[in-house]
Amino acid sequence: MKPATLAMAFLFFAAPAHAAPGMQTGKAIENGRTLFAHETFGGNGRTCDACHVNGGIGPGKTPDGKAIPSLGNAAAIFPRFSKRAGRVVTLEDQIRSCIRGGLQGNPPDGEQFVNLVSYVTSLSQGRALDMDGKPD
Ligand code: HEC
Repeated sequence: MKPATLAMAFLFFAAPAHAAPGMQTGKAIENGRTLFAHETFGGNGRTCDACHVNGGIGPGKTPDGKAIPSLGNAAAIFPRFSKRAGRVVTLEDQIRSCIRGGLQGNPPDGEQFVNLVSYVTSLSQGRALDMDGKPD
C-alpha cells in the first residue's frame, strides 16, 4: 500500500463518524440547553423540561401523567405530517407549538429560538434522517 493510501485508511478508521460541533455552535447548544431547562417564555411557569424531563433525553411525561416520547431523534424525523395540524410541519413549527400550547408562552425569534433549535437538534446528532419517522 502507498503511504498516502495507508494514511487515508488510517483517517477513515480513526476519525469519529461525527466530529463535535465547533465552538460557536457548541455555545448555541449550551445556551439552548439552559433555555430548555429554565425559560418559561412569559407563559404559565412551565419549562420544556417540565414535560420533556432530563433535557428531553429518555421518555417524558405531561403534567397529567401522560407518557410522551423522548426527543432523542426529534430532529431526524421532521419535516413530517401532523394529523393534528393537517399539514407537514417542521421541527421549528413543533417547538413553537409546544411553547404556545405546553408553556402558554410566546415563541421567541432570533438568537433565542436558534439556540433552542440547536439544543433540540443536538440530541439527534449522528441519527440518520428519517422524515415521517416515529419518535424514539
Ligand atoms: C405541557 C407539556 C409540554 C411542554 C412544557 C413542552 N412540550 Fe414538547 N411535546 C409535548 C407533547 C405532548 C408532545 C408530543 C407531540 C404532540 O402531542 O404535540 C411534544 C413533542 C415535542 C417535540 C416533537 C417530538 C417528536 O419526536 O415527535 C419536540 C421537538 C418538542 N416537543 C419540543 C419542546 C420544546 C423545545 C419545549 C420547550 C419550549 C417543549 N417541547 C415543551 C408536550 C410538551
